[in-house]
Amino acid sequence: MQIIESVAALRAALGECARTAFVPTMGNLHEGHLSLVRMARQNGEPVVASIFVNRLQFGPNEDFGRYPRTFERDCDALRTAGCDFVFAPDENELYPVPQTYRVSTPAGLGDILEGAFRPGFFEGVATVVLKLFGCVQPAVAVFGRKDYQQLLIIRDMVRQFELPVRILAGDIAREADGLAMSSRNGYLDAGERAEAPALFRALQELAQQVRALAADQPAGEPRKAENDAHSDPADDAFALEAAAALEHDACEALTARGWAPDYLTVRRRADLALPTAADLAQPGRLVALGAARLGTTRLIDNLEF
Ligand code: PAF
Repeated sequence: MQIIESVAALRAALGECARTAFVPTMGNLHEGHLSLVRMARQNGEPVVASIFVNRLQFGPNEDFGRYPRTFERDCDALRTAGCDFVFAPDENELYPVPQTYRVSTPAGLGDILEGAFRPGFFEGVATVVLKLFGCVQPAVAVFGRKDYQQLLIIRDMVRQFELPVRILAGDIAREADGLAMSSRNGYLDAGERAEAPALFRALQELAQQVRALAADQPAGEPRKAENDAHSDPADDAFALEAAAALEHDACEALTARGWAPDYLTVRRRADLALPTAADLAQPGRLVALGAARLGTTRLIDNLEF
């Protein structure tokens, strides 16, 4: 495995490779990242992983300064996972002049949920990912489902800009107790670590309750809502209200355990819009997403159902 710090050296090393598979990261790698590298390995060659802590995606009060830098350990793990090149530019290399051109993300997807609680975050992510795509010119790039909204935004960006890269999604890697693996889990103290899986459990419970809403329709009622073509605004309003009440209860329950939730919500997988009654009635269309602070650490998670 070769470690490369400059764009020119990366281009020289990759030459005319037409099947490059790419995994962008900010380092402090865990099993989740390594599973993305293995997925990249199965879908292209050579495999390039980038390690770059991207200042543009951190808000003024966020953890850019304390974000863990574990370069040596990350390189050992990448080597073992089958990575061929680590692209590790410093800020002067990737942003030799201030990055005044930015990718602005669309209202309705970029400014809800994570975008609402972390203004500028998706603009920073989309900008660096576009830039990294320009440096690596991959045929395939792999992103984790853990950052669900990020994955949707990158897919959309690739589609709208006609970028010649196929986006693949890797599953969330979880600890034995259900906690989604995250570079930020390292911030948790022992008590917080023991409590942390409650976020995933809350999402599981919320998903089950929302699923039960659809099943609770009175027997013998025509299941109009199962067919989009016959979706009824009154059904939609009722479904939304019922789902919102469950989301509210889920937030209250986490708050009672000492968390500060930003949101726990059920959305459509395809676009993160609020679900219609038809979406609720059909399995496989929804995702429960949550973000909540435990002490000073903000955790996110999601569950497709
Ligand atoms: O998911 C991440 O680690 C980052 O947002 C990414 C995609 C590497 C961009 O900095």
